[in-house]
Amino acid sequence: MEPAFPFVHRRTELARIYCDALEGRGVLDFTSGLFLAAPRRTGKSTFLREDLIPVMRERGWEPVYVDLWSDRDREPGELIAGTIRKALDQQDGVVLKAAKRIGLDRLNVMGTLSLDLSKIGQPGGATLADALEQLRQQAGKPLALLVDEAQHALSTEGGTRTMFALKAARDRLNQGTGKFGLHLVMTGSNRDKLAHLVLRKSEPFYGAGITRFPLLDRGFVEAYAQWLNRQFAQGMEFPVEVLEQAFDLVGRRPEMLKRIVGEAVSEFGGAAALSAQLMENAKELQRRAWRDFESLYNTLTDSQKAVLDGVARLSPDYEPFSEEAHAAYQTLTGKRLAASSVQSALDALRDKELLWRAGRGTYAFEDDGLRAWYLEQHRDPPRLAPLDPD
Ligand SMILES: Nc1ncnc2c1ncn2[C@@H]1O[C@H](COP(=O)(O)OP(=O)(O)O)[C@@H](O)[C@H]1O
Ligand SMILES: [Mg+2]
Repeated sequence: MEPAFPFVHRRTELARIYCDALEGRGVLDFTSGLFLAAPRRTGKSTFLREDLIPVMRERGWEPVYVDLWSDRDREPGELIAGTIRKALDQQDGVVLKAAKRIGLDRLNVMGTLSLDLSKIGQPGGATLADALEQLRQQAGKPLALLVDEAQHALSTEGGTRTMFALKAARDRLNQGTGKFGLHLVMTGSNRDKLAHLVLRKSEPFYGAGITRFPLLDRGFVEAYAQWLNRQFAQGMEFPVEVLEQAFDLVGRRPEMLKRIVGEAVSEFGGAAALSAQLMENAKELQRRAWRDFESLYNTLTDSQKAVLDGVARLSPDYEPFSEEAHAAYQTLTGKRLAASSVQSALDALRDKELLWRAGRGTYAFEDDGLRAWYLEQHRDPPRLAPLDPD
């Protein structure tokens, strides 16, 4: 596991804009849900935890957070139901205390104990909408349900059903203009997959849009520089410009920036070394930052490498089966790829979350930073050994 990153840059203003939009105030309208997409490790979860949830609390909402990647072995639908159950249990604690003071009869009148909450979302149990309605009543405030890595729900039938149930709950709890019982926020590292919640009539949140979550900006770099430079003697500090350049090189990922800064300090003698490296050998810096991708890349088959190269080079005009694309693949493999090999390579690359399907027959890098890095590494298409069958 990566060590904790003790520095946190806050984006309260962005959180306020999103909360306004969830209520339908302001220019943006997220009253049917906020669907945020950004590549992995760029700060989505941190933003929810450090910025969005605190602002929601400030507004008197009751936030309920669930990360579908927190336990990949658990059924996503069950994870969501379990989180709601836990929130209810906590509220029960509060209500029971109050009830002891006012007498238990009143509690039954409130309907608190009438639902079987142990089986939320299952046959014979309370529906998700019932459970959420009850939670809203007990909390006495609007709920905000935040589902992190929500696209993962679509990987199982139970998860998909849960998404439809959430939509039903949203419609039930939000009746009348300006009266909200349930705000929905969903994030995804895979825009393609997240889009499957909203694109088609048959999909649970049809009609809502996907919002590109802004990557960390100059404000982050400045705050990080300040935090970092407190630890260095005068004249040994990291200039903001240098950090910003390095941050760009690594796809604006805080952990990778931290990694190269750390290495600059421990192995190369500090800020001056990092500046020099940026000038002389940015490639080498990136290579170290992207080590994880490099090991994944090394496991790809030749046809997968060829297809990845084609997408990198030809985007945004890349079309998998065009003559141009075939010519690009052939430069790497030395012979023409069969259409079926192209298709299975595309599927495999999507599985590995390197590519996403931006629409019918259009593919793109899941992570633009990775594409830039790849092209930097491979100015010319790499020549691979003669194609082995796969
Ligand atoms: N605003 C921020 N300030 C400082 N560090 C951050 C910030 N946002 C993200 N990070 C760091 O970057 C890493 C990835 O962030 P995370 O929120 O888990 O990304 P995501 O949810 O998009 O995968 C974490 O180590 C986190 O501490
Ligand atoms: Mg996350």
